[in-house]
Amino acid sequence: MTVHGRVWQPNVKSPRIANWQLKVAMAITGLIMVAFVFIHMLGNLKIFSSHESINTYSQWLREAFMPLLPYEGLLWIARIVLGACLLIHVVAAFMVWSRSRGNQASAKPRHTKGWLAKLMLPTGLVLLVFVVLHILDLTVGKLVAPAGFRHPDPQFHAATNVIASLDRPVMAVFYLFMLLALAIHFAHGIELAINDLGTTSEKGRSVARIIGLIVAVLVLVGDAAVVLSANLGVV
Ligand code: HEM
Repeated sequence: MTVHGRVWQPNVKSPRIANWQLKVAMAITGLIMVAFVFIHMLGNLKIFSSHESINTYSQWLREAFMPLLPYEGLLWIARIVLGACLLIHVVAAFMVWSRSRGNQASAKPRHTKGWLAKLMLPTGLVLLVFVVLHILDLTVGKLVAPAGFRHPDPQFHAATNVIASLDRPVMAVFYLFMLLALAIHFAHGIELAINDLGTTSEKGRSVARIIGLIVAVLVLVGDAAVVLSANLGVV
């Protein structure tokens, strides 16, 4: 469009990274992390089979593909990929959030509607705190580690450590609360991710909502069963 013979340009600096690019980055990194949590939950369920079963799995995580990979090679690849995903996801979420705050006059984006959507930011922050405490508790074994904690490496004591940690009522309640936050974040996040990756038809949205709900409930029920069983001495 020309105004007084000059090309008209809106008086708004376009950001270097567009909002849709940030959302696609959040969707991809979010879905990778969902896949990890789902597989991690399946691994946790092995405690119902036997203590050896989950310990052997913990050992496999460290020794997988040796000697092609070094000891803990697969684990470190997973840690680096997940760490990068978490960083990208959090930075992109913060950028989208701060832009929507600085642009109050514009129509609210789709993801800020509804109570589930409003809980995305608080539940995301809860999960960040949880991941740090959980790693300090059951991987590193420092700070929040239970008295009975035995480092999983090299004798592989995953079952002993899970039970020793979740035996503490405060820790069990903390894990259950966190799992609820995780389920809320997953239920809505998976729906948003599928939408942001291009599934925008009415039917596609309904399917995305159902997939989000199913994954969220499976992870909640599976992990909560481990927490409660470990606390009540069932496993
Ligand atoms: C509530 C049930 C859960 C239990 C019983 C559990 C148990 C464990 C155990 C035993 C480890 C140490 C594994 C090993 O060193 O062999 C671990 C590591 C880890 N868990 Fe969980 N976990 C649970 C839920 C979660 C959730 C919901 C998340 C993500 C939001 C998560 C993220 C992680 C991460 C990132 C690690 C570190 C992996 C590593 O670097 O070694 N966990 N978990």
